[in-house]
Amino acid sequence: MHNIMVLNAKGGCGKTTISTTLACYFAGQGYKTALMDYDPQNSSHHWLDMRKPSQPPIRSIDAARSRTGVTRSWQLHTGVETEVVVIDTPAGVTGGQLVELFNKADTILIPVMPSIIDLNAVEGFLNELMRFAKNRLHGKRIAMVVNRVRFKTPTYEKIEALSARMNVPLIGSLRDSHNYAIAMESGMGICEMKTGVSTKDRKQWQPIISWLHETIPCKDPLQTPKFPGLPDWQPEAKSVAIS
Ligand SMILES: Nc1ncnc2c1ncn2[C@@H]1O[C@H](COP(=O)(O)OP(=O)(O)O)[C@@H](O)[C@H]1O
Ligand SMILES: [Mg+2]
Repeated sequence: MHNIMVLNAKGGCGKTTISTTLACYFAGQGYKTALMDYDPQNSSHHWLDMRKPSQPPIRSIDAARSRTGVTRSWQLHTGVETEVVVIDTPAGVTGGQLVELFNKADTILIPVMPSIIDLNAVEGFLNELMRFAKNRLHGKRIAMVVNRVRFKTPTYEKIEALSARMNVPLIGSLRDSHNYAIAMESGMGICEMKTGVSTKDRKQWQPIISWLHETIPCKDPLQTPKFPGLPDWQPEAKSVAIS
């Protein structure tokens, strides 16, 4: 079982969007997939509730949060067969809760928006995370994804510099796309949308899933991981592409 956690103390940076997109991708590839919502707002679970029986199944896991918002002990009722757990997390994670979440993850994805406010926030968050993680990685991998990119701004370049400085790779860049709002409102993922309207977004997911599959074996070990709905293509050497 592989736990992919989408984590950033900053709200609104795309944690739920990336979590639901990934859960949808892995379920569509035939992995027994669960989506764990650690956020009391339960946005991921509202999205799950909208899914139809005809869509690839994604198990919903209660993320051990009481009605009062107090975190109980981690109850990972994933079931023995679950292969991929995508964990959506709330804003404001810090201190003991950050440590607890870090310990549960195999892979941590940190979405960051290319705004100065988000850059400053993620810098503080990464400092806290990496201070703790430094000697405790034990095979865990951490990466950043820039989300809601409209054009390459100086802030984007500062995120690239931060990635290099902190040794946290920047593995992908997602454009600001209305498709994410449509997907969120309809219980779908980008990989389930019509290919014509979603091709640009699908292409941007390719480097992200290629990176994830470095530690999550493909269902067919002879296959190169490919985001569905894309023509055969060679991933570019440099993984971050903005269109
Ligand atoms: N790449 C994107 N393009 C357009 N809208 C996006 C994108 N990513 C997220 N959003 C929107 O931004 C808002 C916040 O995203 P969300 O995933 O809920 O963030 P978080 O879970 O970190 O609070 C939502 O309305 C979502 O639809
Ligand atoms: Mg959220």
